[in-house]
Amino acid sequence: MDSFLIRGGTRLKGKIEISGSKNSALPIVAACLLAEGKTTLRGVPRLSDIDSMTKLIGELGCHVYRHEPEGGNTADDSSAAHHPPALNGALDIEVRDEKLSEARYDIVKTMRASICVLGPLLAKRGRAVVSIPGGCAIGDRPVDLHVRGLQKLGATFRTENGNIVGEVRGRLKGCRMYLGGAQGPTVLGTINVLCAAALAEGETVLVGAACEPEVSDCADLLIKMGAKIKGQGTPEIRIEGVDRLTGAEHRIIPDRIEAGTFMIAAAITNGEIELKNCNLDHLIAVVDRLEEIGVRIERENGTVYVSSSRRLNTVEMTTQPFPGFPTDLQAQLMGLLCLGDGISVITERIFPDRFLHVGELNRMGARVRKEGPTAIIQGVKELQGASVMASDLRASAALVLAGLVARGTTRIDRVYHIDRGYEKIEQKLAAVGAEIERVKEK
Ligand code: EPZ
Repeated sequence: MDSFLIRGGTRLKGKIEISGSKNSALPIVAACLLAEGKTTLRGVPRLSDIDSMTKLIGELGCHVYRHEPEGGNTADDSSAAHHPPALNGALDIEVRDEKLSEARYDIVKTMRASICVLGPLLAKRGRAVVSIPGGCAIGDRPVDLHVRGLQKLGATFRTENGNIVGEVRGRLKGCRMYLGGAQGPTVLGTINVLCAAALAEGETVLVGAACEPEVSDCADLLIKMGAKIKGQGTPEIRIEGVDRLTGAEHRIIPDRIEAGTFMIAAAITNGEIELKNCNLDHLIAVVDRLEEIGVRIERENGTVYVSSSRRLNTVEMTTQPFPGFPTDLQAQLMGLLCLGDGISVITERIFPDRFLHVGELNRMGARVRKEGPTAIIQGVKELQGASVMASDLRASAALVLAGLVARGTTRIDRVYHIDRGYEKIEQKLAAVGAEIERVKEK
């Protein structure tokens, strides 16, 4: 297992290219199960989660090909670990065998997004056996809304030996449904039902749908495949079912969470970073909070410039569904506010227990107190390097950011959590001056 060693104190300066979005690519790769023929996806990041998803659909009868960047050779994509860290090689996905319908525990336990094959399998093959995703470091993550939405389209479900077993007699049937839950809309639940409804009989109206850019990106691919969809990106999506979908070409949207993380890296080091392939429209609430804190964010000719040059203000922030402040940037923002000039308050509304980073940040000299879904952050003058432990993807990113500014050296163990969602983060940070290296864990 790998660790990161980070020597803090450098003001970051330079250019970073944002990769394609992990949270868009994962459900989109699963949605390729719906299509006849080949689909070509561009901008798919090289991440361990993407490897798990391509392995999963490989086991469900798909042939997956990862092209090397232009001028490179083609090679079967069974484990991206063997590929050089080339960004954005195109991915070809072709359904070759539709007999299989089981998503095994061994893959699902490594990646919850495996649940995204449920809707496509039911719609296209009339049967799906998906291992029930287990516990998660960020809190309770049931899939009841996915099941409820697919049941409303006519699927029947039972649980058997730790699996969700879903079946469809004949074809799914469109209907009007409400898909909201106690914490609001569900992103992957919306996408699962959207995919299934694309091949259902008649019209489906999804009320209370998630509005995240990843939902729209998947809808845009489905439309290229021949689906009839309106209202994606709004709380009400209308889908007129079609008989068949065919392969298409699609470029994955930029990763707004990776972009937000690097914006905060610029702010926490009082640096100056230029972001390429960054869509600010996907980060409006993030820009709002960062500007409130005193960070300068400008966009010119497709490049986003982020800089700060003084001690930062404090803010209050509550995580919300899009277009609100994303829960996936909560930990990173907390890292920044640890150095704020006074008291900040963060409330986590999406995953109320998502605070595993608090203990580790306090080990670095931060002063954060948790009270239920709220964290009270007393800003300190400086953080100190320490040995800390990565626990989940975004909590680990917050520790990297804290390490960039801490006095001395920070050692972060279990960085495999980071590799799940950040493509070669240490290379991108080193390219803008960070003193960071990947080492073997002791
Ligand atoms: C997606 O997860 C993202 N994952 C998460 O990012 C992100 O935190 C989350 O959306 C919220 O933005 C991917 O896209 C792969 P939800 P998802 O269903 O779709 C409750 C990261 O760091 N809920 O929108 O699984 C749920 O418990 C990851 O990249 C139900 O109650 O999240 C939560 O409180 C972490 N029943 C809320 O809804 C359900 O059936 C929102 O969850 C489904 C969800």
